Amino acid sequence: MTRNKTTVIIPAAGCGKRINAGENKAWLNLCGKPMIWYSLQQFRQHPDIREIIIVVSPQDVEKAIKLISEPHEFITEKVVCGGEERYHSVWNGLQAANADTDIVLIHDAARPFINQTIITEAINTASKKGAFVTAIPVADTLKSVSDGRVISTVDRSAMWAAQTPQGGKYALLYKAYNNAIEKNLQLTDDAGIIEANGHTVYISPGSPENFKITWPNDFKLAEKMVCANMKTGFGYDVHRLVEGRDLILGGVKIPYKSGLLGHSDADVLVHAIMDALLGAAALGDIGKHFPDTDKTYSGADSIALLKKVTSLLKEHGFFISNIDTTLVAQSPKISPYIDEMRQNISDATGLNIQNVSVKATTTEGLGFTGTGEGMAAYANILLFSINRC
Ligand code: CTP
Ligand code: MG
Repeated sequence: MTRNKTTVIIPAAGCGKRINAGENKAWLNLCGKPMIWYSLQQFRQHPDIREIIIVVSPQDVEKAIKLISEPHEFITEKVVCGGEERYHSVWNGLQAANADTDIVLIHDAARPFINQTIITEAINTASKKGAFVTAIPVADTLKSVSDGRVISTVDRSAMWAAQTPQGGKYALLYKAYNNAIEKNLQLTDDAGIIEANGHTVYISPGSPENFKITWPNDFKLAEKMVCANMKTGFGYDVHRLVEGRDLILGGVKIPYKSGLLGHSDADVLVHAIMDALLGAAALGDIGKHFPDTDKTYSGADSIALLKKVTSLLKEHGFFISNIDTTLVAQSPKISPYIDEMRQNISDATGLNIQNVSVKATTTEGLGFTGTGEGMAAYANILLFSINRC
């Protein structure tokens, strides 16, 4: 697949004075992910994006490199350092763009809720008209105010609120920015810089959801928006214990007199997790995706299957927030292996290990787990979607 020559620049080198969070707001933890991650995922999903440049402060370079360390088949991702004002940061980004790029979209890291439609519209407007600003019509009545006193009511019919992305054809943008830097034009948005260079800028439709996180309350609203897109999942699995099989739990081979019987490695814990993940996304269960009638899965490593499930969820716009599990087994003692299991699950899912919990219990000799005929596992998980419902 060849991609259109579209570059995205994400300025994230501000200091977030107004939100006053003690760190750059692009890296604030928004329900388990840094805020910048949300818009980055939307651009990664879009079929026309070929290059993404993140512009950060020198102290955030390491974090940014980690963020882009996952390779993407069709997209080149770069990190560059920003400047004193936003337009200096964008200028640094423009200079790092691939020389043959056609269209550039500049999008604030502080707007996590951009969506695929806004990106498509921006690219179309840039292709047809040369320069664009994403904007929405102003809905509220506008008052001109001085010292707390209304001076007049402003006619809002011609008023639009500018969002990002903004941008246009690379050559046009480059010239406009060169001009702004040379003349030290103190302009706060890209459209303003293009206008100042004598070009007409056209409106591309935005969305009220694509608001900028500027003040502490904006961040609270953003948290609510992510939470509104969460889904829980539950998984349960049982396997029989037999002699002559390895005991694999959470991807760890545990020395024991017997092992779990199954078509794959019979890792009951990881199977419960996969069912919980697939269930939350309403994508069926492991029997559907990895049938025991398929020879490919004979003796399969369940941790590798968990990786596949994580990728499948991603294709559907779902990301894992946390995993909690309980293994039910009379023996052997599981606690010495728990951290290694958590690490394996964390590696397969990309989750921070703090968001992976493995617990174990006996049933005090009762039932099939108590007699040692088998083991069972339960998993609860939470998913969130970046595609708004
Ligand atoms: N930005 C940048 N370089 C700067 C200033 C701002 O890359 N020198 C980025 C910010 O990181 C943000 C976007 O431009 O993603 C929009 O700016 P704004 O919302 O004003 O962010 P901050 O400047 O960080 O916040 P504040 O103005 O409250 O200090
Ligand atoms: Mg600012």
